[in-house]
Amino acid sequence: MGPGQTVTVLGAYGHTGRFVVAELRRRGFVPIASGRDEARLKTLAASHPGLEVRPASADDPDSLDRALAGAAAVVNCAGPFATTAAPVIEAALRAGIPYVDVAAEIEANADTFAHFADRALAAGAVIVPAMAFFGGLGDLLATAAMGDWTAADEAHVAYALSGWQPTNGTRTAGAVSRQRRGGARVVYRNGRLDYRHDAATTFQWSFPEPLGPRTVVGEFTMADVVTIPSHLRIPEVRTHMSAEAAQDVVAPDTPTPAAVDERGRSAQTFLVDVVVRSGGTERRAVARGQDIYAVTAPLAVEAVHRILTGRTRTVGVASAGEIFDAADFLHALSSHLSVELPAPSPTAAATPTTSLKTPSIAEPAS
Ligand SMILES: NC(=O)c1ccc[n+]([C@@H]2O[C@H](COP(=O)([O-])OP(=O)(O)OC[C@H]3O[C@@H](n4cnc5c(N)ncnc54)[C@H](OP(=O)(O)O)[C@@H]3O)[C@@H](O)[C@H]2O)c1
Repeated sequence: MGPGQTVTVLGAYGHTGRFVVAELRRRGFVPIASGRDEARLKTLAASHPGLEVRPASADDPDSLDRALAGAAAVVNCAGPFATTAAPVIEAALRAGIPYVDVAAEIEANADTFAHFADRALAAGAVIVPAMAFFGGLGDLLATAAMGDWTAADEAHVAYALSGWQPTNGTRTAGAVSRQRRGGARVVYRNGRLDYRHDAATTFQWSFPEPLGPRTVVGEFTMADVVTIPSHLRIPEVRTHMSAEAAQDVVAPDTPTPAAVDERGRSAQTFLVDVVVRSGGTERRAVARGQDIYAVTAPLAVEAVHRILTGRTRTVGVASAGEIFDAADFLHALSSHLSVELPAPSPTAAATPTTSLKTPSIAEPAS
């Protein structure tokens, strides 16, 4: 098993789907481009000689069966996932093939665990939600940072984005999630999702140098609050976002991302700083790279490759950190991500990779 196999991509002509199709081809897979607009599928195929297109819509099970027929796996890039995840997972279960998606929606990801865990386990099926920048990468970093720890008191995932030009899909997903929350914001405390009406706070987070202290919006909650506690015993999982990016993504006039290099990436840079704390000891893992949408493609495609080559640790619905060897997975993406992980235990048991000022002792931003 390995490259040469066919992989259906639903949402193939979307912003993220296009990166996934290109990355599958680069890795030697044979993508099948699927989506509900045949004309846009054909336009995509024009720039990928030989690309097979199969029109399908998430609300049409027969079309999904046709799109998945004969494929070795499916990558769902069609959001909002509140609408698409369940029908595409059902189609993957019917086809008997693994399912990977890039969902950032917290509740949709929680639903995937809640609704499909038992059936997927019973069927021996593999379903990996949030195999993307938000959800997947933070989980891989947190898992790698944990090392030999089986539990921790808290995990923080701090995002420093140079800016955030959201795609239409990000805006739509955000609107769907906000509607589901009825005006509340969601946090992960005491081992569960909690809906609150108080305002989020800002504070200074000390990112690794050369970035240093930056203002972040605290508990700007992302999909890591579903993926990390799905397999790590950490009752407090908090994600924080650099203040400028948090403003960009909600501003109605922020443009969509523009390509600046031959890979189609935007100029956006990111740093993901993950800290896990147990008692008085902290461990840290950091990733740096360019373009949160573009990097989602190597994350998802590496996942597909590992699933199809049996480099997995479990079956059922599982997040990236649970099903893959997190450190090995991150190192495999060295052409897309630069990572700093703690040295393997026991030698680095209590040594963060860089000095850390935790949010608990950080000062509120002025
Ligand atoms: N977790 C992460 O870090 C991460 C990273 C990247 C993307 N994402 C998520 O991935 C999703 C897509 O993002 P994007 O940037 O690629 O957005 P996009 O450019 O707007 O693409 C969305 C795609 O989904 C398709 N789609 C929507 N509903 C569909 C349905 N019912 N059946 C078939 N296709 C359907 C759209 O087709 P039409 O144009 O025909 O509607 C389009 O091709 C968003 O939910 C986004 O939040 C998450």
